[in-house]
Amino acid sequence: MPILYSEEFKSFYLNTPNSSYVFHVNDGNFLVHDYYGAKIPMEDMKAHSLMTGNTGFSVKSADLTTAPDITPMEYSCNGSGDFRISALQIREARGNASTDMRYVSHKIYRGKPTMKDQPATYGTEAETETLEILTRDSVTGAEATLYYTVFENYDAIARRVKITNASDKEMDLERVYSSCTEIPFGNWDIGHLYGAWARERKFERKELPRGIHSIESKRGASGHFNNPFICLLDRNTTEDVGDAYGFSLIYSGNCSIQTEANVDGDLRVIMGINPTDFGWHLNPGESFETPEAVTVYSADGLGGMSRTFHKLYRNNLCRGPWKNAKRPLLINNWEGTYFNFDEEKIYNIAKQAGELGVEMLVLDDGWFGARDHDRAGLGDWFVNEEKLKGGLGLLSDRIHALGMKFGLWFEPEMINPDSDLYRAHPDWCLRVEGRPMSIGRNQYVLDMSRKDVRDYLFDCMDNILKHAKIEYIKWDFNRNLSEAASALLPAERQNEIFHRYVLGLYELLERLLQANPDLLLEGCSGGGGRFDPAMLYYSPQYWTSDDTDAIERLDIQYGTSIVYPTSAISSHVSACPNHQTRRSVSMQTRADVALAGTFGYELDVTKMSEEDKEEMKKQIAEYHKYYDVIHFGELYRLIPPNGEECAWCYVSEDKSEALLTFVCVRCHPKTRHRVKFRGLDPNKTYQDQDGTVHSGSVWMNAGINYMPPMQDHTTFKIHLTEIK
Ligand code: GLA
Repeated sequence: MPILYSEEFKSFYLNTPNSSYVFHVNDGNFLVHDYYGAKIPMEDMKAHSLMTGNTGFSVKSADLTTAPDITPMEYSCNGSGDFRISALQIREARGNASTDMRYVSHKIYRGKPTMKDQPATYGTEAETETLEILTRDSVTGAEATLYYTVFENYDAIARRVKITNASDKEMDLERVYSSCTEIPFGNWDIGHLYGAWARERKFERKELPRGIHSIESKRGASGHFNNPFICLLDRNTTEDVGDAYGFSLIYSGNCSIQTEANVDGDLRVIMGINPTDFGWHLNPGESFETPEAVTVYSADGLGGMSRTFHKLYRNNLCRGPWKNAKRPLLINNWEGTYFNFDEEKIYNIAKQAGELGVEMLVLDDGWFGARDHDRAGLGDWFVNEEKLKGGLGLLSDRIHALGMKFGLWFEPEMINPDSDLYRAHPDWCLRVEGRPMSIGRNQYVLDMSRKDVRDYLFDCMDNILKHAKIEYIKWDFNRNLSEAASALLPAERQNEIFHRYVLGLYELLERLLQANPDLLLEGCSGGGGRFDPAMLYYSPQYWTSDDTDAIERLDIQYGTSIVYPTSAISSHVSACPNHQTRRSVSMQTRADVALAGTFGYELDVTKMSEEDKEEMKKQIAEYHKYYDVIHFGELYRLIPPNGEECAWCYVSEDKSEALLTFVCVRCHPKTRHRVKFRGLDPNKTYQDQDGTVHSGSVWMNAGINYMPPMQDHTTFKIHLTEIK
């Protein structure tokens, strides 16, 4: 049984294959955390306490049972003696915000309850077990139900909280985090993913400072700048060995992950909706559900933690027919044509790409309204027949006649002031009456909390999908939210707008998928600006970055792989010199880097040399050959990108096949490069593509000794297959 309860000690034991999470109910009915880490026997945990050392200046609860400030609190509350960062703060009708939740009851059951209107991991009764604990603040009548779901196959725990106003008075939620995790004393490093447009998800590891450390977004989206993820790594933890705890929030809006470490190194982590610009008014009987948070424990270092996230998110978060189906190999016209195209241009790209083996044409921005540039047209989701004579239906039919699929770009949440939609409905934007609106990429943001706005968008998109055969949509989002106010919300609910926006987005995505169940969605936000777990629930692949330079992509894809599976990392071969960096890199290197993702092309194939086209055919053959090991295999990061070199390998789950890619970023005279496989079975025998045969042990320990050509930015691949 993954979840056990001891009547004697009033203790809960949550077990995954290799980790345990333990807490108990104390004499004052506080939930007190005991342990999270490598698996331990339940019998040994009796009343084991993590209580911290320094009691000076702590206060005790009135029943004298607990000093919350020095007690590892399972779900920390504000204003009742816990002076550290708190997960919950509710302002009651009398204006006070002290909050004090005590245990009432619990239940344990197989399976995982679904969330009403938010994305979450899922699992069958065979795969998951759930603990639900009801806690209550006896003074205000607020209730918090804590949900913990344990996965039978992964060292992961999914958590969330539901707050219910069980009183007869109104109350206001001011902060409600999805999880609070107490990590015992230690020397911790924190890892996180930071970035910017075209430089997303760079991985940084540094010593965790004492005091409070925050990873946050208040942009209305998870954003390019701070992905909703951190990990805590023991100072000695490496890519392969040592304690690693991962914290990932399934949320696309304003998120916050905070740590607070005290003088003894004891550590609390809270993750959830950012309380800045957040509030939620609860009338009697109303409830509020937080987004879901996922924690992962691994004793196998950063790499082990990543592999758990990859499998969990690929198998138990991504959904729909495309989750594990082979994705169509696509060509996108954006970098090939930008706004400058007509139906013949697009058809010719499709035709020539199709002849080389490409399976889908994606028509990017510029096909609708007066969209000849980025200053007009957003919101007018009607085909521009001056550009595309005969409309989308005809173009789609012609592309299908080539044996290819057809995909289309949308940016539903946005509106240009120069659009018919804006002229008809200026009040549909997020805006503060009387305050001029800030502008980003010449566009405003639609108020996604409004049903009429969502209905309009659904009708436009669904109508296009019904009238032209379209298998794929790229869903873009090219600015963040400012002057976030809704014309429809009363003053006391205006601080709900950021979260209501996100709920509205989820509702529209869900509705579109329900109405078009075979549709493949690819998420996008000026590249990877909203690349978060929540979006993967709707779109199993996400445009990783607008930076398509293969060398820049090494950092971006390395960082992205810390949490997200390869099957989600959308990656294309683009033209050279690269449009973002002006760097020229060989076709082979561009393809070898793009292969560590969903793989596709983003260039004007009609302008390619015959030589490059031949190379493209070879690449497409390799894409098919390696698809399974890359998409369903386990990723081992061998050499992180360091300006000199970078290497990774995929190993199939049954360890019968592996593919290693090595990138020599900067060459040096007569220098050999060495790289060792990981993840193979040491006792199996493997042969590479040139016929060299070794045991897994030799490939992993003696490794490969390679002299690259005297040229920067070259790659080589080694493909191993088991010999029985
Ligand atoms: C964003 C996307 C690009 C492209 C453009 C179109 O920047 O990230 O891939 O779709 O919008 O305007």
